Amino acid sequence: PKRKIIFSGIQPTGVPHLGNYLGALRQWVKLQNELHKRHVLLYSIVDLHAITVKQDPKELAQWRKEMFASLMAVGLDPKRSIIFAQSDVSYHSELMWILSCYASIGYLGRMTQWKSKLALPDNASPFDPSPSNKAALKLGLFSYPVLQAADILLYQTTHVPVGEDQAQHLEFARELAIGFNHAIATNNNSNFRLHPPETILSPAKRVMSLTNPTKKMSKSDENPKSRILITDTKEVIQNKLKSALTDSVEGVSYDPEGRPGVSNLIDLMYHIDESVAASPEELAKDLEGLSMRALKEKVADVVDEGIRDVREKYEEVMAMPGSELRALAKKGEQQAGSYAGKTLGEVKRAVGL
Ligand code: ADP
Ligand code: NA
Repeated sequence: PKRKIIFSGIQPTGVPHLGNYLGALRQWVKLQNELHKRHVLLYSIVDLHAITVKQDPKELAQWRKEMFASLMAVGLDPKRSIIFAQSDVSYHSELMWILSCYASIGYLGRMTQWKSKLALPDNASPFDPSPSNKAALKLGLFSYPVLQAADILLYQTTHVPVGEDQAQHLEFARELAIGFNHAIATNNNSNFRLHPPETILSPAKRVMSLTNPTKKMSKSDENPKSRILITDTKEVIQNKLKSALTDSVEGVSYDPEGRPGVSNLIDLMYHIDESVAASPEELAKDLEGLSMRALKEKVADVVDEGIRDVREKYEEVMAMPGSELRALAKKGEQQAGSYAGKTLGEVKRAVGL
């Protein structure tokens, strides 16, 4: 069978939460452990994406380090996966420019991320003359999906493991690759083609906020109690779960539409400990008679158990000498750079540069 090339990225915006962990990072580690012998795995800290919104430079540098430590803490291994910072491999920006020349503004205008980051309505247009919109929308935020497409296509990636919120961007990347291939096919006789990648969704596609369970758990939620971090202590986990929004229906049942809060807790427990039940419905049956308080205590125990190793490993990695971490980052940069340079060279030739 053909060699698989796995690529995914995460922004350096603080220690990952359980949405990142269950929706993406844990899947990255599983793929690494299954595939590393015959396939290529690349995982990037996408710091160029982070600056599409305002960042404090000192904080960003610290967050980059914390994300690097988090990736190692969840079980990524620099011997099996290529772990690197996006801005260390300048080919990402270079391919983005070339792809920008093939990307449709109309299509980008329909993407939801720039609208949600600016709290604009779904039908907002980049050319909307309203002053707040015009002042706030920067080109980088608008064209973010082109950079994301470049990140992926630069490695001739075959599979991208992400949470459901990224499916739209992946479809954009696929269509951009197809459009680019079409353009170069009619321009010259090069055999080079960009590979349109497939999406891999993990079983926990969408982990919801604890305090507002109809929204996804997210780093950008201003309420820190809305999310559990992979480094949270048992006490912190217990406290956050105590204030999780549930309902006043008696007993436990699984009904994501009618009882989003309780169902999110069931989902969390079900996904954190994959041996706990065969389905969330069965798990809810097992816990049927519990009070909300007892359910939350149980979920706290399971979450604490589930991330204890990660938390301990995180402390270990953060305590490593800076030079050792820098050497690992350098190794990732070189490995990623050698794949990326090859693709970029072919792209440039294909367009006549
Ligand atoms: P955030 O959305 O918190 O800013 P990122 O955009 O850096 O996080 O996403 C990193 C990865 O985590 C992506 O693959 C994304 O799909 C996944 N992810 C983020 N939030 C969730 C969630 N609540 N449930 C499932 N997956 C998620
Ligand atoms: Na996201």
